[in-house]
Amino acid sequence: MIIKDIALAKLILTQGNLLAIPTETVYGLAANAFDASAIANIYLVKNRPQFNPLIIHSNSLERFFNWGLQLPESALALAHAFSPGPITFVVPKSDAIPDLVTAGQNTVAIRIPNHPITLELLGSLDFPLAAPSANLSGSVSPTCAEDVEAQLGNRIGAILDGGRCRVGLESTILSFVDNKPKLLRLGGLSIEKIEQVLKIKLDTTALINNENPQAPGMMSRHYAPKTPLYLDAAENHLQEANYNEMAFIGFKVKHPNIVGSNQIILSEKGDYAEAAQQLFAAIRMADSMGKKLIIAELLPAENLGLAINDRLKRAAVK
Ligand code: TXA
Ligand code: MG
Repeated sequence: MIIKDIALAKLILTQGNLLAIPTETVYGLAANAFDASAIANIYLVKNRPQFNPLIIHSNSLERFFNWGLQLPESALALAHAFSPGPITFVVPKSDAIPDLVTAGQNTVAIRIPNHPITLELLGSLDFPLAAPSANLSGSVSPTCAEDVEAQLGNRIGAILDGGRCRVGLESTILSFVDNKPKLLRLGGLSIEKIEQVLKIKLDTTALINNENPQAPGMMSRHYAPKTPLYLDAAENHLQEANYNEMAFIGFKVKHPNIVGSNQIILSEKGDYAEAAQQLFAAIRMADSMGKKLIIAELLPAENLGLAINDRLKRAAVK
């Protein structure tokens, strides 16, 4: 059921039920972070591996402080620059946070999402919300209420409608556990913007191995559509499918040979933010065309192109 009423949303969560919530990045599947049985339900509904911890969300830094979660100096500078926004901080866990939320780790991921409806909802609650992306584990994150409804509608009570997500990629995750910031996941806030504030080069070594245990959710095959998706040239696949049988996801310009109506261009003007916003909807749409395969083009490796390419590589057949 898609709802718009924040008071009803509050009631659903207060009673220990799950609610899909809008954020600026992607929709989340939320529950009271202090309610272990509600948290267990998130794992069940998403079919999420128990070892994969959840991000907790609230509407202000002060509230996280009150729950015993501290940010080091460099994280504070980033929080002041970008929160609310598409950035998540991994910090030492406090006793207030159930082990189920952090999958037994002694760290917890915290985020202030930048969406007016969800900020109002969070402000009305006396607990934070644990919320992974509102998709079945391993599939594409939803960027509108209807996408959540299509995948999880029969498994959850309600979806709070906040329109289409403005950023379209999950948050950028940084660990501050050793005081020195470490990038764990590329996301909706670019490395360039983060480095401008930190005035140092970010440590990205934790990203290199995508089986990296420090961000257990970053398994190599994720975001997988049903139709096989490839990142190399369409010409390499003419044995398996002709141009009519291919869907194409491109950055700025159409593929010269693939049928026009099978093609989705992320941003004709070459705007990274627009491309990011369109990406997951494009993967869903290409998948729904029912073609034999999907060819997707990687973007230049800069700005949000890095995070977009990360998601495309995880969606692709290895
Ligand atoms: O934009 C977002 O971050 C969205 C919206 C709903 O806020 N949420 C999201 O959650 O993408 P999820 O669960 O799909 O991805 C969270 C990632 C996972 O890869 C998980 O392993 C990692 O964050 N994570 C969570 N807690 C962690 C921790 N304590 N240490 C390291 N990684 C953590
Ligand atoms: Mg996810």
